[in-house]
Amino acid sequence: MILVCGGIKGGVGKTTLATNMAILFAHAGKDVLLVDADDQETASDFTIIRNETLADLGGAGYTAIKLHGAAVRSEGLRLAPKYDHIVIDVGGRDTAGQRAALSIADVYAIPFLPASFDVWTLEKVASLIEEARPFNDKLKTLCFLNRADARGQDNDEATEIAREIPQLTYIDAPLGNRKAFRAAASKGLSVIELRPEDPKASGELTSLFDRLTNITVASKRHQAELTKRS
Ligand SMILES: Nc1ncnc2c1ncn2[C@@H]1O[C@H](COP(=O)(O)OP(=O)(O)OP(=O)(O)O)[C@@H](O)[C@H]1O
Ligand SMILES: [Mg+2]
Repeated sequence: MILVCGGIKGGVGKTTLATNMAILFAHAGKDVLLVDADDQETASDFTIIRNETLADLGGAGYTAIKLHGAAVRSEGLRLAPKYDHIVIDVGGRDTAGQRAALSIADVYAIPFLPASFDVWTLEKVASLIEEARPFNDKLKTLCFLNRADARGQDNDEATEIAREIPQLTYIDAPLGNRKAFRAAASKGLSVIELRPEDPKASGELTSLFDRLTNITVASKRHQAELTKRS
């Protein structure tokens, strides 16, 4: 599948999502291409750090490239048959690269924060989706709450607005505002690889991955049982 991590708001967790999804696909034994379509190149920087961190273990576990503008579509289509999955990270604006990514995506995943300014931009994302649909009728558009408060009205208010946007399907698989996401990113790791592990962060991420991809990541206990049996 081609999974695009997007939206038109900066700093909401697109790169966090894209890098973690690429890593979870790799852990599920898939051949993954991570496309950095943002000129800030954060996903590429993350991959450089990841390759250093995991140098003794064979590196990142996925292939990463940078693409911009219309090349996101043309190269994306050319490379799609060579990989099991492609994850595309786009910049936090309405760019040619994001539109090109939308034209080839199977799933468009949009994080939003529990804040009014953030949810308002989802309306603009909705018109971007409307424009993409005639060219891509397979497109699934899913949004989820990122950096959710531990509890509170702000989460509920934001998700209520998101649920009312007909072009978007709200999925109830929030990621909490947890230090583990930042700590893992600074080492080029997914939260599921961070030690000591934050089980809440890992649990939230694997649930989100399930919901976005329909792939269930086996728990460590389940993996150990499978190894014992084989
Ligand atoms: N669930 C979370 N808990 C805590 N921190 C988070 C979480 N998700 C993202 N962050 C942090 O928030 C910051 C912004 O995240 P990220 O870079 O993924 O956003 P982005 O949407 O890609 O931003 P940009 O629009 O600049 O590309 C980063 O420092 C990241 O580590
Ligand atoms: Mg980013």
